[in-house]
Amino acid sequence: TLAVIDFGSQFNQVIARRVRELGVYSELFPYNVSMETLKENNVQGLIFTGGPRRVLHADAFKVDPAIYELGLPILAIDYGAQLMVDQLGGMVKEVEHSETEVATLNLLETDNSLFKGLNAEEKVWQSVSDQIAALPEGFEVIANADHDENAVIFNKEKSFYGVQFHPETGQTEKGKQLIENFVKDICGFAGDWDMGQFIDLEVEKIRKQVGDKKVLLGLSGGVDSSVTGVLLNKAIGDQLVCIFVDHGLLRKNEAEQVMENLSGKFGLNIVHVEAQDRYLSKLVGVSDPEEKRKVIGNEFIEVFSDEARRLDGVEFLAQGTLYTDIIESGTETAETIKSHHNVGGLPEDLEFELIEPMNTLFKDEVRALGEELGMPADLVWRQPFPGPGLGVRVLGEITREKLEVVRESDAILREEIKNAGLERDIWQYFTVLPGFKTVGVTDDKRTYDYTIGIRAINSVDGVTADWARIPLDLLDKISKRITNEVDGINRVVYDITSKPPATVEWE
Ligand code: XMP
Repeated sequence: TLAVIDFGSQFNQVIARRVRELGVYSELFPYNVSMETLKENNVQGLIFTGGPRRVLHADAFKVDPAIYELGLPILAIDYGAQLMVDQLGGMVKEVEHSETEVATLNLLETDNSLFKGLNAEEKVWQSVSDQIAALPEGFEVIANADHDENAVIFNKEKSFYGVQFHPETGQTEKGKQLIENFVKDICGFAGDWDMGQFIDLEVEKIRKQVGDKKVLLGLSGGVDSSVTGVLLNKAIGDQLVCIFVDHGLLRKNEAEQVMENLSGKFGLNIVHVEAQDRYLSKLVGVSDPEEKRKVIGNEFIEVFSDEARRLDGVEFLAQGTLYTDIIESGTETAETIKSHHNVGGLPEDLEFELIEPMNTLFKDEVRALGEELGMPADLVWRQPFPGPGLGVRVLGEITREKLEVVRESDAILREEIKNAGLERDIWQYFTVLPGFKTVGVTDDKRTYDYTIGIRAINSVDGVTADWARIPLDLLDKISKRITNEVDGINRVVYDITSKPPATVEWE
């Protein structure tokens, strides 16, 4: 394992992911990780991330100094580099204004293994925050940059590197190469890791953790919980009990497909709860997006708890949480944008230990995992679907009629995208009902009906997104079908905003 030590940088998982892309298993560990944990995980190299704290302040995140005695190579980035300098007896000086900019890196020691494949001058994404003022013993400077004479420092004997720029971001042109040099040439990883090994490792971990107890899983029908279900089923078979709650906010035919695929084909043990009426009655009069999420989330907890109480011997709760769910719901350092966590705390009598086997993965990695588990393409490549479902696509208050409009228009959109062979080319696509009426004309008569919005985006992980360029002829066909086939719609608009500044969902 290559351990990424987290000091709260927003890029922390991106680094772990870049390393996994190189065929090397990488995991994120908190800055206060114990040396035993690192040894247990057979760590053979370390990357320190950047972070928002300042090394010289009282609240600085610090690692156990024993980490420098493990005999492992370290690549310390930005804050990580400053911390290493401070802890090893060098000096850090504070800079008044911190900013990040593209800068030129000048290599002083071009034949250093870290710089293999780099030119003598390279563009890097540099954060001018605190600077290294005096090097610890055994270190030398091997590159400088605009406004920073100690941009890369190196301890040859220990294979410690400190870099004052961000190799993990796209703005550092040779950043990938630099990380690859560190991971393969300096740490000596072979690069033969793949998802198959991830499965073996997780199956083993899950079996060890669960023993002969039961695990509960809320299945939503989406990729994340389905893959979690199949992975757990592989590990513990019928010790896994899945609860599938139909909240009435699902897409057309979705419930049938979930049961057919996961229960039918994969043999998952699923309790199917029909809770449509319960949900809709709780949602009457609720129009604020976060309030809707809360009501839907709370109702889920109620229904789920009712079912869970009927079962004996359950000690664990599995969740298909991904890395992106965690970061956007706000972490120690990241601000809350939308509450994506679909399940809050369960009541006290149902305190389970959590199993989140995929919380280090990005969406596309989960798909690769699903394929490796032998899941069919239409399940694995299913587009992401939010926990609150169509509930956040009927803007404002939800009614049965409005849900039906979104459900039908969404089915048309999906059918046409599929017929055009674009299913896998567009990351996520759906319709929304803004809830306002506009004037139109049909058969020479004035109409005053609802507008439907089409949203289609491309993204790698949902964190940022670009609006998808659906061919105009196809949009035309979809628009005609929606206005003709869905009652109460006389206008269709196409959302041409990326994220940021918009988010993917309209609520
Ligand atoms: P946003 O709208 O935040 O969406 O740009 C990014 C991705 O997350 C999905 N999403 C949610 N998923 N519960 C979820 O499980 C939610 O409350 C939620 N809100 C948005 C969205 O569909 C997109 O894929």
